[in-house]
Amino acid sequence: MSNDGVNAGRRRFLVAATSVVGAAGAVGAAVPFVGSWFPSAKAKAAGAPVKVNVSKVEPGQQMIAEWRGQPVFIVRRTPEILANLKKIEGQLSDPESKNSAQPTYVDPEVRSIKPEILLLVGICTHLGCSPTFRPEVAPADLGKDWVGGYFCPCHGSHYDLAGRVYKSQPAPLNLPVPPHSYETDSIIVIGVDQEKA
Ligand code: FES
Repeated sequence: MSNDGVNAGRRRFLVAATSVVGAAGAVGAAVPFVGSWFPSAKAKAAGAPVKVNVSKVEPGQQMIAEWRGQPVFIVRRTPEILANLKKIEGQLSDPESKNSAQPTYVDPEVRSIKPEILLLVGICTHLGCSPTFRPEVAPADLGKDWVGGYFCPCHGSHYDLAGRVYKSQPAPLNLPVPPHSYETDSIIVIGVDQEKA
């Protein structure tokens, strides 16, 4: 009789203890899943660096990567393109990118780490459309003075092949240069800063 009493008491205690652990476990599981685990995984994926192999980008051509949900234009510039950047400086609104966004390790005029490889966030600084790559020289619709660049189809902003905006355009600033670094000669990591030499 007394044994039964003890056992019954212990059983009640064990049931109660299990329920508490169960409840704590349920709360513990619910918080990470609902409150933080999913969003942080999502946020991590959205903000994660992106590796891009640029070895197949031909001179004068562009590839488009995606980083943080934004297009990143990657262009392999030719010596002619680089020479033209200098020639048109007088026509640009912010030729030395003093008011525009780029990392400090990027040349503010050529706007890249290696002169030949340009990276730009492909979102117009006016109202956020994605400009069109127009590398050809003097096409009929852009005029005889056009030396290649970007044309925004929404309200007509013109940028050069360093992402620098021309004067008197709806867009106020140059296209931003994203943080990036070279893992090898042809692998670029977008979203990770180049270490200072
Ligand atoms: S969004 Fe590009 S010119 Fe307006």
